[in-house]
Amino acid sequence: MSQRTRRLGRGVAVVGAGMSKFGAFKDKSSRDLFVEAFTEMKKSVDKGLDAGDIDALYLGNFSSDLFEGQGHTAPIMTDWVGLIPKPATRVENACASGGAALREGIIAVASGIYDVVLVGGVEKMTNLPTERVTDTLAAAGDAIYETPAGFTFPGLYAAMATAYMAKHGAKVEHFMKVGIKNHNNGALNPKAQFGSIKDVMEGRIARAKERGQPVPSWDNELEFLHDPVTNPVVAWPMRLFDCSPISDGAACILLVAENVAREFSDLPIYIIGSGQASDHALHQRAELTSIPAAKIAAKAAYEMAGVKPQDIKIAEVHDCFTVAEIIASEDIGFFEPGSGIKAVDEGKTARDGTKPINTSGGLKSKGHPIGASGIGQAVEVWTQMQGKAGPRQVSRNVDLALTHNVGATGGSCFVHIYERR
Ligand code: COA
Repeated sequence: MSQRTRRLGRGVAVVGAGMSKFGAFKDKSSRDLFVEAFTEMKKSVDKGLDAGDIDALYLGNFSSDLFEGQGHTAPIMTDWVGLIPKPATRVENACASGGAALREGIIAVASGIYDVVLVGGVEKMTNLPTERVTDTLAAAGDAIYETPAGFTFPGLYAAMATAYMAKHGAKVEHFMKVGIKNHNNGALNPKAQFGSIKDVMEGRIARAKERGQPVPSWDNELEFLHDPVTNPVVAWPMRLFDCSPISDGAACILLVAENVAREFSDLPIYIIGSGQASDHALHQRAELTSIPAAKIAAKAAYEMAGVKPQDIKIAEVHDCFTVAEIIASEDIGFFEPGSGIKAVDEGKTARDGTKPINTSGGLKSKGHPIGASGIGQAVEVWTQMQGKAGPRQVSRNVDLALTHNVGATGGSCFVHIYERR
């Protein structure tokens, strides 16, 4: 493998970002959601954007074909935001489709072929019932060796969780604490699908009272999460509140060449590192307690950026299941292998911790509309770096941030590093 450090041909900056609310929206199509995200992105460009200046679109989308019966999604979205005849390309890398679209957009701008690129992501999942969503998602696993053996995504990540428990002594409470943290962050994000677990508990109590049913009582969130009725096992040890939800949503960012960035914004956020790697499907890996593609992608991104994990102030990582956040926090070098659980216990990854992770609520609470998730992560770090995250704004100076977007169980991974100068 080449040991050369890769560099961008020219600098690339993010000058605008926007997203729809993530959630379950019966009356909205992916087109509606994409238009919402685009409209918010356009408004966020502080010196204004003439949409005619956009040279091309790269769109992350996993499976609009199966979810909505609509293929060839990129030109459709281009049409709906008024950009015909601009070039539009759909990018698919399972749950990392957004991260993959972002990397393609960066490469296009860095190469000089385009100056202004719209990078978006969209997925409308809730048209299908849960069983069919599960089958559709399973297509991102290995359709010969995993799916016929009965593996679903909760099952695959449950295998990683049990391996991690056996190797590092993790307890289910560690996973639960990640869920509590991310739901607390989501409660402060108006775009998130879910609020805090405390709110869910209070809602259940109020509902039981209203209906004259026996009123449940839990002392705290951990007790609620141990309750098999309120938090059933999906694939042990992953329970309902360990899983990201089935979501609809869209997100957009605007990438521009460094030399024109100040024409669009007084505060461009530069992308200084980009890494990507691939791996075998999970059944073929030597160990399940880390994601090798994530480690390789992170190393490449750090080398390109010339920074170290210690320098990064916040990260949005791919917490499709709670265990995945702990593994990610180690793969990106924030913590040593096996010590991600101690970091959770010590509150290091909380908003006021030393290494805040998933201030947006993460996929767990903000939602996981597959193709949009990687771009949703970029929207959050851009928002935090602009100081515009409102009540969830982290208090420290966010001059360097990182996003980590995983395809399936780590068959692909994309890591990006952002700098505010
Ligand atoms: N976390 C917390 N609460 C959730 C939830 C989640 N992931 N998913 C649903 N809920 C809540 C709903 O809001 C609803 O609450 P209410 O009764 O108070 O209204 C309740 O749980 C039941 O919702 P429902 O939609 O019927 O759940 P479901 O059983 O059909 O689906 C899962 C739950 C976990 C199976 C589904 O969310 C899932 O498959 N998630 C994983 C998605 C995935 O694999 N993504 C790819 C990752 S790589």
